[in-house]
Amino acid sequence: MKKINLLFFIFCFLISLNAQDIQLLPPDTTGGMPLMEALSKRETNRNFSQKEISNQQLSNLLWAAFGINRTNGKRTAPSARNAQEIDVYVFMKTGTYLYLAAENKLKQVYNQDIREQLPKQEGFKDTPLLILLVANYDKMDRFDDAAKEFYGSIDAGYISQNIYLYCTSENLTTCAIGMIERDQIKELLKLNGKPIIAHSIGIKED
Ligand SMILES: Cc1cc2nc3c(=O)[nH]c(=O)nc-3n(C[C@H](O)[C@H](O)[C@H](O)COP(=O)(O)O)c2cc1C
Repeated sequence: MKKINLLFFIFCFLISLNAQDIQLLPPDTTGGMPLMEALSKRETNRNFSQKEISNQQLSNLLWAAFGINRTNGKRTAPSARNAQEIDVYVFMKTGTYLYLAAENKLKQVYNQDIREQLPKQEGFKDTPLLILLVANYDKMDRFDDAAKEFYGSIDAGYISQNIYLYCTSENLTTCAIGMIERDQIKELLKLNGKPIIAHSIGIKED
C-alpha cells in the first residue's frame, strides 16, 4: 500500500513539472536610479534592437511591475480592495508566460511565438519582449461589471507606470500599447477578463 502511495506521489510530482516553465532569478530589489531622476527621464520610446534583456533584468522588471514587496503578500503596485487582479503575461520568442509572483516563476501558457498577434501597430510586432496586463475577472467576484472595467484599468495603470520607471532606471526602452488585439488574445489565451494594456520592452539600437 505504501509503495502505491509513493508511486502515486512520484507520478503527481512528474506531471506537475513542466519543462517549459521558467524559474526566474531572485530579483535584485536594491539600487537603481534615484526616483526623481527616473521621473525626470521617463519617456515613451518606440525604438528597440533585436537584443534581449538579461535574465536578471527580466526578473527585476517583473518584480518592479507587480512583484511581492511585503511579507503580507502585497505588491509593488496597489489594487482596489487588494484584489491583485492584474495578471502579467510575458510574450517572448519561446512562447507566452504568466508571471507567478509568489513562486518567482514564469508559467508557460502558450508554447508558440505569438508576439506579432498582440499589437495592432506594425512597429511593435517584432519587439523581443512584450508584456501584457490583463484584468482577471476570476479575481474580481466582489466587483460589478462596471467596477471590473473601471478598477481593472486603473490597477493596470499603476503597473504600467512601474514598468516605465524600471525601464528608465535600466536605460531600456518601453511604450505603453493600448492598440492591441484584445479579442484575439483573449481567445488564444482563454482569458476570463480583459487585456488592458501592453508594453514593448527593448534595448536601444546603437
Ligand atoms: C493608456 C495608453 C495607451 C497608449 N497606447 C499607445 C499605442 O497604442 N501606441 C503607441 O505608439 N503609443 C501608445 N501610448 C504612448 C503615448 O503615445 C505616450 O505616452 C504619449 O505620447 C506621451 O509620451 P510620453 O510617454 O513620452 O510622455 C499609450 C500611452 C498610454 C498611457
